[in-house]
Parts: sequence; C-alpha cells; structure tokens
Amino acid sequence: MNMKINQVTIDALASLCKRRGFIFQNSEIYGGINGFWDYGPLGVELKRNIKDSWWQSVVQWRDDVVGLDAATIMHPRVWEASGHLDGFTDPMVDCRQCKGRFRADLLLEDQGIELETGSTAEKNLKLPANAKCPTCGARDLTEPRAFNLMFKTFIGPVADDTSAAYLRPETAQGIFVNFDNVLSVARKKIPFGIAQIGKAFRNEINPRNYTFRSREFEQMELEFFIKPGTDADWHAYWVKERLDWYERIGLARANLDQYEYGKDELAHYASACVDILYRFPFGLQELEGIAARGNYDLSRHREFSGKSLEYFDQETGERYLPHVVEPSAGVDRIALAVLCEAYTVEWIPKEDTEGDIRPAEPGEKVPSGYEERVVMKFAPRLAPYKAAVFPLLKNRPELVKTARSIYDQIKKRWPAFYDQTGAIGRRYRRQDEIGTPFGITVDFQSLEDDTVTLRHRDSMKQDRVGIPELPGILAEKIDE
Ligand code: GAP
Repeated sequence: MNMKINQVTIDALASLCKRRGFIFQNSEIYGGINGFWDYGPLGVELKRNIKDSWWQSVVQWRDDVVGLDAATIMHPRVWEASGHLDGFTDPMVDCRQCKGRFRADLLLEDQGIELETGSTAEKNLKLPANAKCPTCGARDLTEPRAFNLMFKTFIGPVADDTSAAYLRPETAQGIFVNFDNVLSVARKKIPFGIAQIGKAFRNEINPRNYTFRSREFEQMELEFFIKPGTDADWHAYWVKERLDWYERIGLARANLDQYEYGKDELAHYASACVDILYRFPFGLQELEGIAARGNYDLSRHREFSGKSLEYFDQETGERYLPHVVEPSAGVDRIALAVLCEAYTVEWIPKEDTEGDIRPAEPGEKVPSGYEERVVMKFAPRLAPYKAAVFPLLKNRPELVKTARSIYDQIKKRWPAFYDQTGAIGRRYRRQDEIGTPFGITVDFQSLEDDTVTLRHRDSMKQDRVGIPELPGILAEKIDE
C-alpha cells in the first residue's frame, strides 16, 4: 500500500482544507448544514483542473464524443421514464428511542452484519434482531422503509402536485433526452458519445465521510452510444480508458481497484458494471461506475415520449435503438481522492537543503536538525497554483520589480502566486502545503545574469535557470 495513504486522516486533511482554503463547511457561520460543502479559492482551482482534464480526455482529444450542458431541472416525466420516481430509493430505518434516522444497508455494513447481495435482496432488506442504533445502541429500530432520494421543488407560484419538479439526481438523463437533438447536429455516426459535467442532488439519508457522500455534488458522465452486440468490447475499452486517466491525474495504481458486479447484482437491463474504487482513509470506496446499460434508457424515453429515438445506419440500412456504455464519475469524490493521495508528511533538513528527505514516522519525534513539513504532492496539472514567485527581499525594489514582472508574465498562462513576506524558507513551506510545484526566487544574481532559482516542490532541488527559459520549462513540466 502507498505510504502516503497511511499518513493521512480525514481529520488532518479537513483541517488543512479549511485552513488553506480548499473546502469549507457550507453556511458555517450559521452552524453548517449537513451534506453540503463549499470549495474555497484553492478548491475551486483543483476541481476545475480535474474537470478540465476529464473534458480533454473524454471530449476534446477524441473525435467521437461531443459535449452537452443541460438544465438541472427537467420535465417530471423524465424521472417517471428513467425509473427514479419509483425506484431511486434507499432503505431508511428510525430508532424508536433516540429518534435517529439511518440508511439501513450502511448501518448493517458498519455493524459487520452481512448483507445479501443482488438488487432484489437490497430492495426487500430486512433488519436482523441484532441490529442496533449507531447513536444510542438501542435494539429498537423500525423495519426499513423506502426513502426517495430526489429533492422535490415546485415550478411557478403554486406549490401543488401539478407543479412538482425534481432537482436532477444524475446528469445522465439530460443526455438521453437530448439524444435526437445532438444526433441531428453533431454529424456523428455510431459509435459516438455525449458527455456532460454538472451538478446533481440527492437527499442522502446519512451524508458522511467528509465530502464523499454529499447531498449536492458534481458528476462527469459520458453516454457512449454503440451498436447492439458490441457492448462487452466497448465496456472493457472504457474501463481501461478510465483507469488510465486516474493514473494520469496522479492516483497511484496501488490505491485504485475495481469491483466487477456479479450477474445477480446487475440491474435487469445491464450486461456489465465495474466500479472504480479508491483506497480512502475510510476504506476502498467508489469513484466511478462504468455500466453497459443496453438500450434501457432510450427505450423508456421512447415509450414515455412517443418519439422514436432510433438510429438509422446509412451504410447498412439498419434502424435500431442504440445501446449505451456509461462511465459515470463524481468530481467531489475524485477531488477528495486527489487530496488524500497528495497529502504527505515529511521530515526535512532545517535549512531547506536538497536531499535527505525522510517520510515522517507517525508518533515519533522529529530528529534533531530536521523539521516536519506537510506537502501536497499534486500532479502539476492538477495543482491550484503552478508556480509561486518570490523576491528574496521585499525591501529591495530592483528584486521586487523583476519578481513582479516574472509573475505578471506567468499568471497570464497559469494560475500563479506572488509572495514577498517572511523568510524564504517559510514562503516555500506555505507553497508546499498548498501543493505549488514550482518556486521561482529572484536574488541578487538575477540582476546580474537574468537567471532565477527554480525550486522543485517534491525534491526541494533548486536549479539555476534563465528567465527567458522559464515559460518553456514550466510548460513541459506542467503538461507532462
Ligand atoms: N448515471 C449513473 C449514476 O448516477 P451513480 O453510481 O449513482 O451512477 C455516479 O453515481 C457517481 O456519482 C458515483 O460513482 C460517485 O462518484 C458520484 N456520486 C454519487 N452519489 C454521490 C454523493 N451522494 N456524493 C458525492 N458523489 C456522489
């Protein structure tokens, strides 16, 4: 297992995220609201970089996928057709003693009580007699009741059943209902995909594990439409593509895993499903599901809308309802995995010299001559700031002027940070803690020969490089 994962706890990570502006509790000044999170100045950059990287690899770098941005509220009939109105439920139990409310399957899992697998078993979940309330310990729980996870709202001024609508619980349905629209404008032949990034809302019974299970979150979903019969090949293709992407954004292969659904666990219309899992501090958990869903969604929308939604293959003269492979990922979960992966505690020589960096031993004293540093080892392409620029001394106008002009040049191309306050070692440490991969220091030699020191976050090595060469060097390292 990766050393870094051993070091991070969710408490330590959440404290860093708040202190440095990655993630804040939503409505904190009013005591917070469970299941909702806000991303601060650094968190918003991190999330944007994750989404940009996904969009590049799934849409922009391919010829066979186009994008979409559908509204978050859709016609209520969409959710009848998709099955969410009837079936998008979790089993909920109440404690008769303390009045706590819990998700029954998670409660049993936490108490080590084996659940029968399979979609029917989960729907008809029964509580065994030894199940107890996780809050007060009473063995006095109600039988599970189905609780619909969709947030309900009303359109227009009258709040009655005729104006009821739902915040979308997934982005996917926006894609299916636009299938004909996109097909008619995108000049694509099957196989081709439609991708979308956007907010989804689920009224989770027990939001938990920090941002992992939230009530408002973002999804990145692709519906890849294929010819019936090619499902298994395309499914395997997308599982591999997506695993490769997770490695490219810096998640170690050793911390990734996959779970393949057994035949009895699949929805009746699906022919395959693989979850991509990440080794979080609270266990191996899902980042993304990749399902071969047959033509279930299009056939349901055909039935409910009366529109044909068929594809006409001009080469073969065939007419058919396409099948679909759906890689569906959560941005917030990926951001959390990236934060966990990046979080590293090390012992470094006090003078910030290169070499001899040691992994911190939890519970041990820092050796003499060393200090502890927390460093976020983001892949450069995901780091919120790519570079920080420092004049060695703030009271020397010639150093400040050169540093500012380098900063002005860099920030036009990448998010960058300028810092002139405090000892240079402390400035490096502040950037280490937010994961800035490169530090550029302007010193007296810079004024003589137009060079700066370029400090590398992970190795702490410092190179002397020419100022005109900086953009090229950074570009190569950020995009590699
Ligand atoms: N269209 C298929 C679909 O929505 P899902 O497995 O329910 O499938 C896909 O959701 C992904 O969305 C999950 O793998 C996860 O990353 C993310 N996700 C789902 N529920 C979430 C929640 N409550 N909080 C954060 N992310 C969530």
